[in-house]
Amino acid sequence: MHVGPVTIDYDVLIEGMKGDVGFTSKEFVDAFQYSLKSLRKIMGAQENSQPFIIPGGGTSAMESVTSLLRKDDKILVISNGVFGDRWEKILSRYPVHVKTIRAKPGDYVTPDDIEKEVSKEHYNMVTMTHVETSTGIREPIYEVSKKIRNYVDLIVVDGVSSVSAEEVKMDNIDVFLTASQKAIGTPPGAGLLVLSENAVSRLSDNSIAGYYLNLKNWIDVMKSMEEGRAAYFSTLPVHLILMITKAFKLIEKEGIENRIRRHEKVAAAIRTGIEGMGLSIVAKHPEAYSNTVTGVIVNKVNPSEVLKEIVNEGIELAPGVHPDLAGKYFRIGHMGWVNENDAISTIAALERVLSRLGEPIRLGEGVRSTQLYLSKGNISNL
Ligand SMILES: Cc1ncc(COP(=O)(O)O)c(C=O)c1O
Repeated sequence: MHVGPVTIDYDVLIEGMKGDVGFTSKEFVDAFQYSLKSLRKIMGAQENSQPFIIPGGGTSAMESVTSLLRKDDKILVISNGVFGDRWEKILSRYPVHVKTIRAKPGDYVTPDDIEKEVSKEHYNMVTMTHVETSTGIREPIYEVSKKIRNYVDLIVVDGVSSVSAEEVKMDNIDVFLTASQKAIGTPPGAGLLVLSENAVSRLSDNSIAGYYLNLKNWIDVMKSMEEGRAAYFSTLPVHLILMITKAFKLIEKEGIENRIRRHEKVAAAIRTGIEGMGLSIVAKHPEAYSNTVTGVIVNKVNPSEVLKEIVNEGIELAPGVHPDLAGKYFRIGHMGWVNENDAISTIAALERVLSRLGEPIRLGEGVRSTQLYLSKGNISNL
């Protein structure tokens, strides 16, 4: 129950255990072709969009958007926490102008505030984080994109903690990116992104991007692979891509809508359990609860003790990483292949550990609330 890398399905893992797959082999090219086509579908993107799978992870995908920027471009960063701030950290390494609008931890920057800013000044790019992993806050990206579409050139969304677990569509969005180790449920090592036709038209030799993460250098490989022909710019993570292909096949079998509903249900069951035992969660507004990450605030115990203890109960959770909430919370990741039983085991183990460590909770009430939620499927029935 970590926020990533997440537990990996064995069928996915085994797919990478192949000793003789070269990057020009038919087996690999077929797999890559399938993955690129699936990625476009999972992102809800149009046929004329361009999918990319590149080495690295979320950060390499983020940094690769410099391929769309030119010297002195203006970028507005919308930050609800640590990973929103990462955009500012990356982009301030380049010769562009960055302004950040930041929410308090537990809050999100509102669509109205974003619209107000972009209507005052012309921005070439706006970046948002769909689910801010440091706090578990979901930004209303579709409402924002609709409001700001006519003001800005490019809208970029970091969907590292959302893709394949939240509703993802590229209407009004130019770049949607993710990483392999999150809700897709594969090992770390790849950044996955889709560019709209508008974004592709901005790839140029005059961008501020360097060499390795320059999408202009990767685009021909992606196009060629999608057409079934091997191509090389730099060596791809072959075995990881075989695993991603298997994961995409499993996602197709489950159905993306069913997968999103499953995440939604497990997330709600966990939040219900947390509140049932008497604790509160970091996200302050229900409309910003995410399907993938829940931050849990503790009142008395040290959260790092909770993490240490709960591993002995067979559950791994993640530390709180937002500096303003240091020592006050931990995070539960519920993405990838999680199910209802995982929600129950997590709440049950948490209750045991918290009560042993001396946190004042209503022992048993968390499990009861989660069970009631899962058996009735609707919290209003409680
Ligand atoms: C929302 C978000 N963006 C970006 C990243 C960076 O991804 P990576 O660690 O794969 O570089 C993370 C990592 O957890 C993340 O959660």
